[in-house]
Amino acid sequence: MRETPTLLNTFPVIFPTVFYPGANTGIGKETALELGRRGARLMLLCRDLEKADAAKEEIAKETGGAVETMKLDLSSLRSIRECAEKILEKEDKIHILVNNAGVMVSLNLLQQLSLLQCFFPPLIQFQVCPNWKTEDGFDMQFGTNHLGHFLLTELLLPLVKKAATDDFRPR
Ligand SMILES: NC(=O)c1ccc[n+]([C@@H]2O[C@H](COP(=O)([O-])OP(=O)(O)OC[C@H]3O[C@@H](n4cnc5c(N)ncnc54)[C@H](OP(=O)(O)O)[C@@H]3O)[C@@H](O)[C@H]2O)c1
Repeated sequence: MRETPTLLNTFPVIFPTVFYPGANTGIGKETALELGRRGARLMLLCRDLEKADAAKEEIAKETGGAVETMKLDLSSLRSIRECAEKILEKEDKIHILVNNAGVMVSLNLLQQLSLLQCFFPPLIQFQVCPNWKTEDGFDMQFGTNHLGHFLLTELLLPLVKKAATDDFRPR
């Protein structure tokens, strides 16, 4: 039976360059490790370069592959433009762009308690979601997880398109 094509099982044929926001922890780091084991050259795009360097060392040690880091804060359109500019200057093509980074406003105790607002609105006045904003004034979750990745992808798309060949479909 034919294996279903996935990000991980389709590309060891070549040694692609993978640009990777949010690869210093969580699901992102695990996937970066696996991509590294399969021969990818990894560029970790992170808002905290100290954390990025720690992840870089761990991934490079475990995979023996090429890992680099670059500063990117997806909650800042300025940072995204600066990062994309550097990449466009020094890179030839991008085979894979993994838009993994993201924030999630979690349900903490206060927020759970705020459900009581439905029943006792005058007594309990908690905010359901913290009112975090991006540098540009957008809601933090929408600004980072949607607008940030959208702008980054738009700016890097010319390099992604350049990686297309008859045998390789960039993604
Ligand atoms: N885990 C789940 O069950 C689940 C479910 C649904 C969707 N997801 C999504 O899957 C992705 C990975 O999940 P995860 O559990 O691995 O999350 P995680 O451990 O919280 O990792 C999120 C990554 O995104 C980075 N990040 C956050 N804000 C950023 C910003 N403004 N600029 C650049 N990088 C930023 C974080 O960097 P720092 O280390 O600097 O914070 C971290 O590397 C996220 O987008 C998440 O929303 C996860």
